[in-house]
Amino acid sequence: MSALKILVIPGSLRSGSLNAKLAAVVSYELAQADVEITRISLGDFPLPIYDGDLEKKSGVPKQAINLKRMIGSHHGVLIVTPEYNSSLPPLLKNAIDWVSRVQEGHEARGQVFRDRAFAIASASESRLGGTRCLEALRLVLSACRATVIPSQLALSFANDAYDDRDRLKHPADIGALQSMVKQLIDFSQHMM
Ligand SMILES: Cc1cc2nc3c(=O)[nH]c(=O)nc-3n(C[C@H](O)[C@H](O)[C@H](O)COP(=O)(O)O)c2cc1C
Repeated sequence: MSALKILVIPGSLRSGSLNAKLAAVVSYELAQADVEITRISLGDFPLPIYDGDLEKKSGVPKQAINLKRMIGSHHGVLIVTPEYNSSLPPLLKNAIDWVSRVQEGHEARGQVFRDRAFAIASASESRLGGTRCLEALRLVLSACRATVIPSQLALSFANDAYDDRDRLKHPADIGALQSMVKQLIDFSQHMM
């Protein structure tokens, strides 16, 4: 059987991003389980703000098609995103909106969301750890008819969550991470 491939997408471009850091930590955990990881930056898929007139005039941008193909070449996807005003940041929402408009060959529009498992995680300096953003993201992905695994990771007090070797130091966080990773692998394997 070919290796299980998981795509990791941080929802922040910021240097020193707490979410990019968490994405790296979860990627390491996945790699320990022999999963083939691709970690991308949405900065490599620059997209205009979605506009129906633009789509009508020029079609879906090439970068949205590239991102859709990148997602489509993996069995599972992990999104690690900041919370902005209790929801998901425009960078991530815009990328999802554009990808949901891609239709290639015989597949249905937005089909790429339906054929693979998605896991969601968030890091925040606040006590809630981005929980409200995860609720919003789960709703958005569910609207795209994605399979979003039940386990999720909301890393609270993310500025104080790591030891001096950049590993999660609180047992509750480690447990949530391991449970999410295990479930993402299980769901992704079933969808291979
Ligand atoms: C516009 C804006 C809105 C924010 N709203 C929230 C929020 O609702 N909840 C929260 O926990 N943090 C909020 N934050 C703080 C972010 O969680 C914090 O900046 C975080 O470090 C961003 O993620 P990053 O480090 O991965 O870039 C907000 C930040 C910005 C810029």
